[in-house]
Amino acid sequence: MTSIISKQSLILTTFSLALTRLSYCSVTYSNIPSIANYFGTKGRYEEVNPYLLNNITLVNKSLLIPTSSEGCKPVHVTAIIRHGTRYPTVKNIKRMQRLYDLVINEASNDETWLEEIKSSWKMWYTDDMDGKLVEKGRDDHRYLAVRLSKLFPSLLSEANLRNHRIRFQTSSKHRCVDSIEAFQQGLHKHWGLEEVWYRHEVNDELMRFFEHCRGFVEAVENNKTALAEVKKFKEGPEMGDVRRKMAQQLNVPYERVTPDMVEAAFFLCAYEFAIKSLHTPWCHLFDLNDAKVLEYKNDLKQFWKRGHGHSINSRSSCVLFHDLFNRLELAVQHLRLGQELPEAVTVQVGHGETLLPLLSLLGLYKDPAPPTADNYSQQHGRSFRTSEIVPYAANMLFILYDCRDGPRVQFLLNETPVRFPGLTSETEVPLYSEVRQKYRELLEGCDAQKECEFGIRPQHRGHHGNTEL
Ligand SMILES: *[C@@H]1O[C@H](CO)[C@@H](O)[C@H](O)[C@H]1NC(C)=O
Ligand SMILES: *[C@@H]1O[C@H](CO)[C@@H](O)[C@H](O)[C@H]1NC(C)=O
Ligand SMILES: *[C@@H]1O[C@H](CO)[C@@H](O)[C@H](O)[C@H]1NC(C)=O
Ligand SMILES: *[C@@H]1O[C@H](CO)[C@@H](O)[C@H](O)[C@H]1NC(C)=O
Repeated sequence: MTSIISKQSLILTTFSLALTRLSYCSVTYSNIPSIANYFGTKGRYEEVNPYLLNNITLVNKSLLIPTSSEGCKPVHVTAIIRHGTRYPTVKNIKRMQRLYDLVINEASNDETWLEEIKSSWKMWYTDDMDGKLVEKGRDDHRYLAVRLSKLFPSLLSEANLRNHRIRFQTSSKHRCVDSIEAFQQGLHKHWGLEEVWYRHEVNDELMRFFEHCRGFVEAVENNKTALAEVKKFKEGPEMGDVRRKMAQQLNVPYERVTPDMVEAAFFLCAYEFAIKSLHTPWCHLFDLNDAKVLEYKNDLKQFWKRGHGHSINSRSSCVLFHDLFNRLELAVQHLRLGQELPEAVTVQVGHGETLLPLLSLLGLYKDPAPPTADNYSQQHGRSFRTSEIVPYAANMLFILYDCRDGPRVQFLLNETPVRFPGLTSETEVPLYSEVRQKYRELLEGCDAQKECEFGIRPQHRGHHGNTEL
């Protein structure tokens, strides 16, 4: 077992009612771009769970094991959550600016959407916005907190909040810190609390493990060859078709429309929609097929940089894996002794880059063949689609139940049950002992220090052949 020596700081903020702005409004289905399901990590959470558009606080309690019939009750939840909707980073803002300049100065056609861009759309993104959480992103977390409180009223309860039996940990990035505060606002609002302390611990070793893993940084992050498939696809025939179509629509020479420009236009459509719920004229540049190509390009990047593409990607999350299982183990020991669990709920806020490696380590979303630059046409049915897996506020929930026949564990991704792969048991909610057995190798190994010192050594690949593609 790995012990985590972490720089933790406890930040307390006084609660102010003025900060909360929970309004239970409902958004209509109209005005959604037809390509909204292909925005990858820049997609809205509501595209994954569209019922939330009608009622943002709706929960489906029948997902959980019914308390009475099976003699089960939930006793602990660990929630690992991506930050909410955010502004683009500086790199993408600069690309959007270049695209905007090109369109304003050089594009020409008779279409009304181009006229709209030229006459009424203003480039309002500025460098200082750099990846910060937007108001919609705060709402993502406020309402998620409300839904989880309704799903687990005995765990995310007022008493547990007051008695500090809910622990809050976050990455140090402002978008994550702001998210975890919004989550607590949602809880306070839901329980009608007016004067409570906000609290969270910053822990980057845990929530930004990818930065602290030298093997990963050297072998993948700073290694251009590790992402060769992405580069190849960007220059390949499918992207070429999208560029050509865009150049024709704007009536500018093909060479002026670089792959980065195409992406900037796609992201503009995505950001305007995610941040402001606007269906802007930028979206007219893409049809469904174009969007699928651009989604694939983003999935390729996530697959090779954060997913099953290289074994070190997932193994860099060993520290978070052990953190989770140490907590479950401790909880199970307390159950055995009939004692109250130390933590009812653990809320951990991080990044898409935090969730994807852990999902991969658990063996999820692994398709028979890896996505490559050459096999776009064979990959339409792939399970690894970041639009479905890691939209803003994506969340992994591990629920521990105390049942008559022993503790059980359920896993929900984005509030939907997902089975642990390769378990023999029929039930969606296996015994904890089965889950332990399934991940025995990782529980006994997956030492963050060792994994991260060696990166993707050749012998490593052979040894962990099942995670290396
Ligand atoms: C939303 O769903 C909840 C049930 O989870 C219900 O109590 C509430 O009244 C609904 N709100 C609206 C506006 O329909
Ligand atoms: C709620 O969850 C159950 C069990 O997964 C499912 O069968 C049902 O369709 C869900 N209901 C809604 C409204 O999504
Ligand atoms: C860079 O990535 C390639 C392809 O995965 C790999 O063969 C190579 O060893 C990596 N380089 C370093 C320095 O790890
Ligand atoms: C995908 O392409 C790679 C080569 O780039 C090939 O090895 C693999 O078999 C292909 N997979 C499928 C399903 O086509």
